[in-house]
Amino acid sequence: MRVVDLAERGKMLVDWAYRNMPVIKLIREEFRVKKPLASLKIGACLHITAETANLAITLKEGGANVILTASNPLSTKPEIVEYLTKYEGIEVLSKPSETPEEYYSNIRKVIESNPNLLIDDGGDLIVTINKEYKTIASKIIGATEETTTGVIRINNLYNEGKLYFPVIAVNNAKTKHMFDNRYGTGQSTIDGILRATNILIAGKVAVVAGYGWCGKGVAWRLKGMGARVIVCEVDPIKALEAAMDGFEVKTMEEASKIGDIFITVTGNINVISSKHINNLKDGAILANSGHFNVEIDVSYLESKKISKRLIRDNLQEYIMPDGRHIYLIAEGRLANLVAAEGHPADVMDMSFANQALALEYLATRKNKLQPGVYDVLIEIDKKVAKLKLASMKITIDELTPEQINYINSWSLGT
Ligand code: ADE
Repeated sequence: MRVVDLAERGKMLVDWAYRNMPVIKLIREEFRVKKPLASLKIGACLHITAETANLAITLKEGGANVILTASNPLSTKPEIVEYLTKYEGIEVLSKPSETPEEYYSNIRKVIESNPNLLIDDGGDLIVTINKEYKTIASKIIGATEETTTGVIRINNLYNEGKLYFPVIAVNNAKTKHMFDNRYGTGQSTIDGILRATNILIAGKVAVVAGYGWCGKGVAWRLKGMGARVIVCEVDPIKALEAAMDGFEVKTMEEASKIGDIFITVTGNINVISSKHINNLKDGAILANSGHFNVEIDVSYLESKKISKRLIRDNLQEYIMPDGRHIYLIAEGRLANLVAAEGHPADVMDMSFANQALALEYLATRKNKLQPGVYDVLIEIDKKVAKLKLASMKITIDELTPEQINYINSWSLGT
């Protein structure tokens, strides 16, 4: 293969992703003509991937000036930073591996650049600006939030009266969470596990903690690859759903004694706690695909270990006092983004189409929306679905006038 520099490699990755982002392509073409974001500065805190590059370029085509920082200290792809900076003139603050101090210093730089609109993934940018920069926050037109975890955090901020601008919960769009969270997390988490370990999934006992959209995706994909999947849940309805979907449902106390591989996708803290770690079999593998690195008690592993070594890229081996080997993928951070490349472009296409259209909506509603958390307009959600279907060459039926009449009436019964 020809030797190419980082930026050129980044360009090829972005071009390849773009081929699989037909909805973003259409929006970019529309934005190029309409310039709905003319003279607006957008501060974005997102995983810096090929798919994010395509969103940033689309916003730039819409007239925006984009400044980008990472939404995770370890997820930044170096080729993409090089490409965006060198070829697209987009300012990218993050480097591939950051300390927590560098991570927050970059978030502050984005805020201090006085953006008009914000994009966040996980809530760190929105929480920081509302907590520490009230004057700048009060001038923000609005923001969008990409993830379940971020939406929960921002709702909590709003409920405490500490949110100073409108935020659109992109995660709540059906064309986002039903596809990105389920199929994106499902596939890319397994991709991360395989790149870090190269284990055979077939025949393994896989424990999935959390049966939300992300957990469902991971559990179903593991089942499809021949694992014996155990689901752990705290919500009785989701637990029942998992049971009727054919999974074994157990407490983590029970599952921790028999699992070969564990994946946390709950959005909560210490789901695999010290007491569960004490139960693990020799050779157990731990991975997290929830937004923050709080789901596995990594500090317990760190404090109790006799020794550790990085045995493969993104695979840390811990030797415990009783001689057991415990393996941790990507330091307990998002396995799909750190050990692999994140969700495939095909699903990010819909998530980022919602992002672009939500930002356009916010730009047209300047000073008209009160601070609060808003859903993506149903019209936008349906537009994204229709464009995606069209790109897949799928046509669907339409209601006949008789059917429209029937579903809007009460008179016809038995
Ligand atoms: N979140 C999950 N996958 C992603 C990707 N490929 N790009 C940006 N954010 C993501």
